[in-house]
Amino acid sequence: MSRVLYNDLQPQLLYTREQIAVRVAELGAQITSDYKDRELVLVGILKGAFVFLADLIREIDMPITVDFVAISSYGSATKSSGVVRIMKDLDRDIVEKHVLVVEDIIDTGLTMSFLKNNLLSRGAASIRVCALLDKPERRLVRLSSDYTGFSVPDAFVVGYGLDYDQIYRNLPEIGVLKPDIYRK
Ligand code: IMP
Ligand code: MG
Repeated sequence: MSRVLYNDLQPQLLYTREQIAVRVAELGAQITSDYKDRELVLVGILKGAFVFLADLIREIDMPITVDFVAISSYGSATKSSGVVRIMKDLDRDIVEKHVLVVEDIIDTGLTMSFLKNNLLSRGAASIRVCALLDKPERRLVRLSSDYTGFSVPDAFVVGYGLDYDQIYRNLPEIGVLKPDIYRK
C-alpha cells in the first residue's frame, strides 16, 4: 500500500491518499462556508493532528489563525484513560474567538470532552470539533464531532499522523493495525 515498509507489521489499507485528500477538501469547503466572516482559530492537538491540520488549513479559503495544545492522556499505548494533562497550552487567548479543535481521532471521547470543557471556560465565542476519524461505537461520554472525515470501525488505526507507540505517523495512507501487534 505504501512507500513505507514495516515488514510483518504492515497495516492493512483503509483509506488511500486520494480518498483522504478528497475528504479533507470537502471538510475545508464546509468549514469555509460555515465560518465565513468570523474570526476562526484552529486548535490542533499534538501530536496526532498535525498532518491532518496541515492539509486541512490549505483547503480553508479565508483568513484563519492556528494554535496548538499538546496533551498527554495517561493510559496504555492503545487505550485512553480519560485523565488528561496539558503539556503545552495555547500561545494566544481565545476570548470571543470561534474555535475549531482539530483532532486525529475520537475514540471513547474522554480526551475531547476534557479539552472542550477546558477551552469553553476560557471565554471562546464558540467551540466545535473537527476529527479526521471517529469511532462512535466506542464512546463512553456524550460527545459528537461537528466535522468528521470518516467513521471507522472499532480497530486500531495508524498513519496520516496517527501512531502506535509513536511510529507510523509518516504513513501517507490510513491503515488498520493487526490486533496481534498490540494485544500482548
Ligand atoms: P479518547 O480519549 O478515547 O477519545 O482517545 C483519543 C485519543 O486516543 C486520540 O487522540 C488518539 O491519540 C488515541 N487513539 C484512539 N484510538 C486510536 C487509534 O485507533 N489509533 C491511534 N490513536 C488512537
Ligand atoms: Mg491524540
